[in-house]
Amino acid sequence: MPVILGIESSCDETSAAVCVDGVMLSNVIANQTIHEAYGGVVPELASRVHQQNIVPAVQQALSNAKVNKNDIDAVAFTRGPGLLGSLLVGVSFAKAFALAKNLPLIEINHMQAHILAHFIAEDKPSFPFLCLTVSGGHTQIVLVKDYFDMEIIGQTLDDAAGEAMDKTSKILGLPYPGGPLIDKNARLGNPEAYKFPEPQIPGFDFSFSGLKTSILYFIRDNIAADPDFIQKNLADICASVEKRIASILLNKLQKAAMQYNIKDIALAGGVSANTGLRQGLLEMGAKNGWKCFIPKFEYCTDNAAMIAIAGYYKYLKGEFADQHIAPMARMPF
Ligand code: KG4
Ligand code: ZN
Repeated sequence: MPVILGIESSCDETSAAVCVDGVMLSNVIANQTIHEAYGGVVPELASRVHQQNIVPAVQQALSNAKVNKNDIDAVAFTRGPGLLGSLLVGVSFAKAFALAKNLPLIEINHMQAHILAHFIAEDKPSFPFLCLTVSGGHTQIVLVKDYFDMEIIGQTLDDAAGEAMDKTSKILGLPYPGGPLIDKNARLGNPEAYKFPEPQIPGFDFSFSGLKTSILYFIRDNIAADPDFIQKNLADICASVEKRIASILLNKLQKAAMQYNIKDIALAGGVSANTGLRQGLLEMGAKNGWKCFIPKFEYCTDNAAMIAIAGYYKYLKGEFADQHIAPMARMPF
């Protein structure tokens, strides 16, 4: 019955989770609201807030799980990818805790953990499956052959899907982070109101920079004709942009599923919280006979539960890190 403490601090969420024998008992997420005033995450501020949040987050996670710190068997932490200053806080905490309690350390790749979040639920995908991982920094189609045997078969050549959401919301004058606000406004709008282009990129790769430029010009031209264009049409714009981003993602996913002949299809990462994308996947899945896996909302955006579950599977494999380990801003699978 291994008890794993998971620590996540790769971007602007400080999170701690406790998992006992693969069952998640707690998942505490401390959001950093300080970045809203700056329109994006300020790395130096993120790192400082992580320092303030990390100990209370771990204490809360232990208390919610009713687990004593002396009962922990291993500490799993996000080694990368992410903001170096942010990662450093979680890595240093994990190392210090493990040293003090004489516990093994388990290093986790944040992008793999987003995918392994599917193993928290009772209904787990079967290998091999395809996972569309969409976050603020990454957009990938991953062929998941085993827990830690994953191959990226397609990825973005420029902006990530979450970045496309956040940049669109910035163009529309909405606060950061914009993805959830695009989602909220889109629910009230007509997704067919405006047509934005779908880039023609070969293979399973993505591109979102052209879409961003076309949205920018579309807004600029319409504002020139009517200064209140955004206010009058916000819901329709959000619905149309969301629809296009979702269709760019899902069309590639469908192509990959056909080529690899895979029917277990999963969604992961912050953008998998998006209502239009979730609905779109379910509709496409129904047409194609897929078994679709969509994480619970709390496991979509950054969280330590996904680190703890990934840590559990590495613990079973006996794969541990040593005290000299350092964070990695860029980290391959
Ligand atoms: O995985 P995540 O929490 O952090 C990274 O590792 O990047 O993803 C954050 C991204 C942001 O771009 C945010 O705007 C987007 O996920 N996001 C959403 C929604 N919730 C979060 N995008 C669209 N609709 C949402 N409901
Ligand atoms: Zn993430």
